[in-house]
Amino acid sequence: MALLLGRILEISGDPFQDGLDAVTIRTDGAVHIVDGLIADTGDAAALRAAYPNDDITDYGNDLICPGFVDAHVHFPQTAIIASWGKRLIDWLNSYTFPEEMRFGDPDYAAMIAARYFDLTLANGTTTVCSFGTVHPTSVDAFFNEAQTRGLRALTGKTCMDRNAPESLRDRAQSAYDDSKALLDRWHGVDRLSYVITPRFSPTSTPEQLHALGGLWAERPDCLMQTHLSEQTDEIAWVKSLFPKARDYLDTYEQTGLLGENGLYGHAIHMEPREIDRLSEVNAALIHCPTSNTFIGSGLFDMDGLTPRVRVGLATDTGGGSSFSMLRTMAAAYEIGQLRGRPLHPAELMWLATAGSARALKLDDKIGRVAKGYEADLCILNLSSTAAIAQRADRASDAWEEVFATIMMGDDRAVRDVWVNGNRVQR
Ligand code: GUN
Ligand code: ZN
Repeated sequence: MALLLGRILEISGDPFQDGLDAVTIRTDGAVHIVDGLIADTGDAAALRAAYPNDDITDYGNDLICPGFVDAHVHFPQTAIIASWGKRLIDWLNSYTFPEEMRFGDPDYAAMIAARYFDLTLANGTTTVCSFGTVHPTSVDAFFNEAQTRGLRALTGKTCMDRNAPESLRDRAQSAYDDSKALLDRWHGVDRLSYVITPRFSPTSTPEQLHALGGLWAERPDCLMQTHLSEQTDEIAWVKSLFPKARDYLDTYEQTGLLGENGLYGHAIHMEPREIDRLSEVNAALIHCPTSNTFIGSGLFDMDGLTPRVRVGLATDTGGGSSFSMLRTMAAAYEIGQLRGRPLHPAELMWLATAGSARALKLDDKIGRVAKGYEADLCILNLSSTAAIAQRADRASDAWEEVFATIMMGDDRAVRDVWVNGNRVQR
């Protein structure tokens, strides 16, 4: 049994709905861990007295946070992150598809999966929801690696049966069959969840979208992830491919791919009808701010959408330009500024933890440092560089300190990471 001492990021609600007091910072806190779960939290002196036999790790002034939850990534794009000069469709064709072709090789897929989790854990991210490639081997590689490390993790085989290179295309029926086989193999095993994954409407025929909608109807307990309204060219292309659809979301709605367990990445250029429908079915949108600036997609409307739709936060690597959820929070802040709405550090930290966990329907398991939650933790040093330390010294409260690390921090701010109650060796 372990007892961690430090400051604690405590979350009691959604700061966008319930006010900023829903996220607070406790000084002189303690976290008592038993069998991979948080068994108690509270005042350090009280918990030291209550659990005298625990192994103590004293983090001093460091901030004990929930491990970060990255709600939309492409682990197969790890090696092509920061590829220059293209917008979405050209970026996919020039960089992404050639790299994804390599994942038919199980050894390459396993090598990148291991590299990917090394990078995310170094950045304090303990759960990701990833797209695979079209190859079932990519899903096996990801889940094998996550399982070995004891991680809670989610992925699915990416399905595409048109507008992609031949070797990256499946068929409507094979997408259904392969997805179902992977779902049966992995969903609910240890801490792993399968996610039904049509890439986006331009790369699936209506038949394929229907087939996957059928699978989702058979297995509504699964999440379904895809992309929605990321760039204006993409939306125009969807209109030409689906002339009868009322809008982009309708291509999913008409094929059984709109629902409460649906995750829709980007969602920048939205029609009022789309927002109404997403709100009515209580779907989740995933904000990918470093990607949206890097690929030149646009500015997500956090203020307009958070009252109506569940929102998670994500790196979208390798379209996103960083593996770090700190960098991602900083980009979300900057996009908020460009829209005239500065997000508070309490809102940013919530989005990167409990907010993303809620988007993934895992908010009863991860995303909070609270009794009964799984012990996935990220310990942040709030003075990790000279630049940050001198700003933190000047801070008049703890949020000002946290904000300096959000804006200027990276993997150097991550003192330690705990997964399933075990400290990750680095
Ligand atoms: N839309 C369809 N596929 C992708 C992808 O891999 N990355 C991003 N950013 N958008 C997409
Ligand atoms: Zn994506």
